Amino acid sequence: MLFKAFLLVVSLALAVTAVPPHVKRAACSNGRSANDARCCVWFDVLDDIQADEGLFEGGQCVEEAHESLRLTFHDAIAFSPTQGYVSELTILFVPYLLIVIVGHSGGGADGSIIAHSDEELKDPANNGVDEIIEKLRPLAIKHNVSFGDFIQFAGAVGVSNCMGGPRLQFLAGRSNDSTAAPAGLVPKPEDPIDQILDRMADAGFSANELVDLLASHSVAAQDTIDPTIQGHPFDSTPSTFDSQFFVETLLKGTSFPGNGSNVGEAESPYPGEFRLLSDQVIARDSRTACEWQSFITDHDAMVSKFTAAMAKMAVLGQDVNSLVDCSEVIPTPATLATKVAVIPAGLSLDDIEASCSETPFPTISVAPGAETSVAAV
Ligand code: HEM
Ligand SMILES: *[C@@H]1O[C@H](CO)[C@@H](O)[C@H](O)[C@H]1NC(C)=O
Ligand SMILES: *[C@@H]1O[C@H](CO)[C@@H](O)[C@H](O)[C@H]1NC(C)=O
Ligand SMILES: *[C@@H]1O[C@H](CO)[C@@H](O)[C@H](O)[C@H]1NC(C)=O
Repeated sequence: MLFKAFLLVVSLALAVTAVPPHVKRAACSNGRSANDARCCVWFDVLDDIQADEGLFEGGQCVEEAHESLRLTFHDAIAFSPTQGYVSELTILFVPYLLIVIVGHSGGGADGSIIAHSDEELKDPANNGVDEIIEKLRPLAIKHNVSFGDFIQFAGAVGVSNCMGGPRLQFLAGRSNDSTAAPAGLVPKPEDPIDQILDRMADAGFSANELVDLLASHSVAAQDTIDPTIQGHPFDSTPSTFDSQFFVETLLKGTSFPGNGSNVGEAESPYPGEFRLLSDQVIARDSRTACEWQSFITDHDAMVSKFTAAMAKMAVLGQDVNSLVDCSEVIPTPATLATKVAVIPAGLSLDDIEASCSETPFPTISVAPGAETSVAAV
């Protein structure tokens, strides 16, 4: 009897301690719940930007989704541990301050590109982000969330609307306070590749991680490099987060889609397609070509590596321990029917400029039909 009572006490105690501490979920609007009450506001933001009349026009992979994704990079990458605002006076008189000040050049993913847009838009690398900044600003203010959080959230939701896309991590709680990032930290397509790789390394990204991040260009179009052909896409499937971008950038360039050669532009393989000079070079450089080629037949790796690199980028300059994980608010993207890229119709494997010396170019099929061309999105 005593033994039975003892067992009862033990099992009760076990039952109590077995209850996970976070089982109680915060109640949010419309019957939804979250692991943390601070995540609830993001469901309301989600409803707003995914609405038919909202930013993403009913949860689509529209231009605003592409632009929001681009903005995550332009806000975050303006972060440099090595370039400080150090005046000569500081160096002369307060040498110990150097250690404190260096490391604060550009606050990273801090929303400064919205808060200080008048200053940061003077950097030509930020050409074309003005429109999305003015669309995001009133929404962030309306929902009383920081600009830094809002940029990363809009980018994550935007790319989740693209078929085959990633479900990115989303951490909330960035401060709304920021200072303007200095010009020169955001890479430009005409920058020499050594400079691009150095800049990315300075911000903490390897050459392979740059390639991983460039999966974003699978859902991209340009407006500013050649303003005469706005909306012309970087690959044949700009609403799909697929591997086409990685094969199409390796095709031999034959012509410019618009008004001739512009700064930061390279020849593309078929009518209407736009190719960024940096993408052309990164696809072929020995330091990046193998990672680039690997994604042509491995969409899953492309998504998982992009997800990992984006998680790193989204918290540049932030104290991760002060943020709360609200990833559960990010929608699950639709999956792709086919995950291996194809050679666009009218072209062949002979048009590929294979650039990875370690691995032969994969045998992929050629899409049937007449020569490919692509229209503005
Ligand atoms: C070497 C690094 C990079 C360079 C030089 C670069 C440059 C550019 C340029 C010039 C455009 C066209 C802008 C326009 O004319 O409208 C563009 C578009 C875009 N970029 Fe990048 N980019 C780089 C890396 C990234 C990264 C890391 C991301 C990740 C988030 C990203 C996301 C995008 C997206 C989504 C677009 C399409 C925007 C739209 O369709 O409106 N880029 N990029
Ligand atoms: C963030 O700062 C801007 C001014 O730059 C302000 O308009 C906005 O209300 C602030 N948002 C929050 C959540 O404090
Ligand atoms: C906006 O958020 C701040 C904290 O970030 C809070 O102090 C303030 O009361 C909020 N304003 C409104 C109108 O909810
Ligand atoms: C095309 O470029 C030429 C110079 O190469 C320029 O004179 C002309 O105005 C441009 N056309 C348009 C439509 O911008």
